[in-house]
Amino acid sequence: MVISTPPMGWNSWNTFGDNISEDVIKTIADAMVSKGLKDAGYEYVVIDDCWALKERDKDGKMVPNPDRFPNGMKALSDYIHSLGMKFGIYSCAGLLTCAGFPGSFDHEFTDAQTFADWGVDFLKYDFCFFPKTAVGRNYYNRMSMALKATGRDIVFSACNWGLDEVEKWIRSTGAHLYRSTGDIGERFSAARSISMSQWDKEKYSATGCYNDMDMLFCGMDGIGNVGHPGLCTDIDYKTHFALWCMVGAPLMLGNDVRRMRPEMVDLVTNKDLLRIDRDEECRVPIITKTKGEMHPTYFKHLSNNEFAIALFNFAEDEGRSDFRPWDIGFPKTAGFKLDLREVFTGEEIKGVDDYFSAELAPHDCKVYLGKYSV
Ligand code: GLA
Repeated sequence: MVISTPPMGWNSWNTFGDNISEDVIKTIADAMVSKGLKDAGYEYVVIDDCWALKERDKDGKMVPNPDRFPNGMKALSDYIHSLGMKFGIYSCAGLLTCAGFPGSFDHEFTDAQTFADWGVDFLKYDFCFFPKTAVGRNYYNRMSMALKATGRDIVFSACNWGLDEVEKWIRSTGAHLYRSTGDIGERFSAARSISMSQWDKEKYSATGCYNDMDMLFCGMDGIGNVGHPGLCTDIDYKTHFALWCMVGAPLMLGNDVRRMRPEMVDLVTNKDLLRIDRDEECRVPIITKTKGEMHPTYFKHLSNNEFAIALFNFAEDEGRSDFRPWDIGFPKTAGFKLDLREVFTGEEIKGVDDYFSAELAPHDCKVYLGKYSV
């Protein structure tokens, strides 16, 4: 199965942790429809850890916790499908999940079939309690084969947190996305450090298998499992989202969509940013740091001979970030120019053939969509 653009959806972990239930998942899915997120492309509704009972049944199958999911997973999956969305679930390559529920180690073929029978379309596959004597790659490959053998199209979302140089081998296992870092928390420094940690690894991300920099914390507003009250401003959310889009990362919302502010809906459904994220050429950006690591500039080729340029201010103080055309090999003598439109403000800059810069508030960014002109 080819997943030709980075997957988009919602995952329960960031906000709900182990506080999940059929009601939570259904009402979130409803809100994704009513707020226009589904129409914008957010299609996978993924239940993370803590959905199962601690013991398998007599046939060795995983059992959804009946207090939380009284109608079982097939009924929930039918509901999500009836809304026109897709259903995702979570398991682990190790003996137990990170929260201590059954893992799929040595149960891969049974579990894959169970998930397929439930109508699962997406499996996030974690790495806790993985035996030290086993080879991670083989167990990701084993689950991938087990999923494919069911005959159902199931997106395989590997999550070994970037260990064992995962970016170098994960594509060969048939996975469609791979977590490349440890867990995100709701603070700007987390989005910044995750981004910086992937600067030299984005080249491994391409059509069909994407570098997953973890779920988004946009619009969490301090609520929930990885929420930090008062730590994030709307500028932080904006730059976090722009960073993910500029590298073509999977976009999995992690907030309580039911109480999502309109500003946050606008941010994550911004058509220009989504076009940059999901451009069909799936190019990774050229990242230059001539003004230092706190002021990186991203240049990304897009289809239709267009491109995107993003200026970031990662610093805690106001500062100037810039685009220096010569840094990416574009000389003043080229005989053509760049016409830019900033995607948040609509500001236009026409005829660029030289250096330009922008004064940015702490953590802020500007993202331009551009075309060539003469
Ligand atoms: C790990 C993963 C998280 C989440 C939790 C659930 O920490 O990295 O994304 O799935 O497990 O326990």
